[in-house]
Amino acid sequence: MNSLVEDAQKAGARVGMTADKIVINGGKPLQGRIRVRGAKNLVTKAMVASLLGDTESLLRDVPAISDVQVVRNLLEVHGVLVSEPESGELVLDPRNVKSAHFAEIDAFAGSSRIPILFCGPLLHQLGEAFIPDLGGCRIGDRPIDFHLDALRAMGAIVDKGYEGIHLTAPDGLHGANIELPYPSVGATEQVLLTAVRAKGVTELKNAAIEPEIMDLIAILQKMGAIISVEPNRVIFIEGVESLRGYTHTAIFDRNEAASWASAALATEGDVFVEGAKQQELMTFLNIFRKVGGAFDIEDDGIRFYHPGTPLKPVVVETDVHPGFMTDWQQPLVVALTKAEGVSIVHETVYENRFGFTEALIEMGADITVHKQGLESVTRRVPRRPLEQAAVITGPTKLHGADVHVPDLRGGFSHLIAALTAEGRSTISNVGIISRGYEHFIDKLKTLGADFSVAS
Ligand code: EPZ
Repeated sequence: MNSLVEDAQKAGARVGMTADKIVINGGKPLQGRIRVRGAKNLVTKAMVASLLGDTESLLRDVPAISDVQVVRNLLEVHGVLVSEPESGELVLDPRNVKSAHFAEIDAFAGSSRIPILFCGPLLHQLGEAFIPDLGGCRIGDRPIDFHLDALRAMGAIVDKGYEGIHLTAPDGLHGANIELPYPSVGATEQVLLTAVRAKGVTELKNAAIEPEIMDLIAILQKMGAIISVEPNRVIFIEGVESLRGYTHTAIFDRNEAASWASAALATEGDVFVEGAKQQELMTFLNIFRKVGGAFDIEDDGIRFYHPGTPLKPVVVETDVHPGFMTDWQQPLVVALTKAEGVSIVHETVYENRFGFTEALIEMGADITVHKQGLESVTRRVPRRPLEQAAVITGPTKLHGADVHVPDLRGGFSHLIAALTAEGRSTISNVGIISRGYEHFIDKLKTLGADFSVAS
């Protein structure tokens, strides 16, 4: 095996990815207290932002997940010195940034989509960037056309080759007027990370405004950037010549918090999620309450629990912020199999994000996935041509099964399903869950789940 690949695998082992299989004896409510740390979808971008500074950055509340490890490796091959003075803290020193060999980038990128966000910072620092073929969760076609169009608009020359993409900016990068066809999270971050040091002003229309993006903007402002968020998804970025490092505590992981909340509800349990905050979870909390879940908001976290009364069906559409996040639907669907009646979940962000329901059906759930959205008087107009609908009829009793995890959020929903099921389930490929859920095996133990792990 190639030593670079071996290194990448060892990196995975450092965050507890060695377990590949977990055998769960279901039927026990999850009970107890766990803590969520910084959001995967901010921390990884904040790490990339450190490349833009001319002094070191300090990032706090960094979770031990494999996506962080992937970005750390990618930064290190580009000459960034990364150290961890304390657990959950990263110091990132970009003063010796250098070009990396394509094979190194490719080996470390693994299945991550983060490398695309290295483009702007590397173009500013080195005048060129290489991007390998991109991975990420298998949840449909995940194009990067918005990213490349924005980079071209700001002066980048994009050469697509056999191994990946090579970018240069012979005349430097400049501000531009960009309108995204869809408020893409990644493309908004791409524009932010590129425009902050481009010459002139960039106007970005139809930008994504997720809380993690607002936190990235806060970081860039600490570094010396001038960014104003205007009404109606418009962001202005005034380019500056140089940026310094930052000190920042990452926003909490609201996707992880929502996942444990759904796990508490589905298993008829009671889980206090330390670090969860109300503001960024408001849309989730409304749906959680409509389904019949209960929660108590405290200063240091949120207690999520099943109040002992029957769960109710809901109609939900995933959407960009401030809508119901696409990453929240998979764990919630498991709880909806327990609700008395017919629930409908419309997925409007990705075109193939119901693959995980196959395993739930195998476990006894009554779910029908429709390739198109369903017309209904209670729903807003269909949002995107790619939308699909899952119809969940409950309540159903789930039984144990052998399941293979397809992707990060789907995988977590399989864990929950197995925890609620009667009998024993074997879930394989669980390593993928470590991409976004810190120490999930330890947390399951803390919450009293009955399981064993095998590598
Ligand atoms: C981010 O993905 C998150 N990933 C996803 O989290 C999350 O589901 C998603 O945003 C939506 O909130 C990270 O932050 C690392 P998008 P991203 O660009 O940025 C289309 C998880 O489980 N599109 O907002 O890749 C795209 O196909 C993950 O934590 C284009 O067509 O999402 C999709 O339909 C999975 N062309 C839609 O936009 C492009 O160039 C939204 O994607 C880019 C996107």
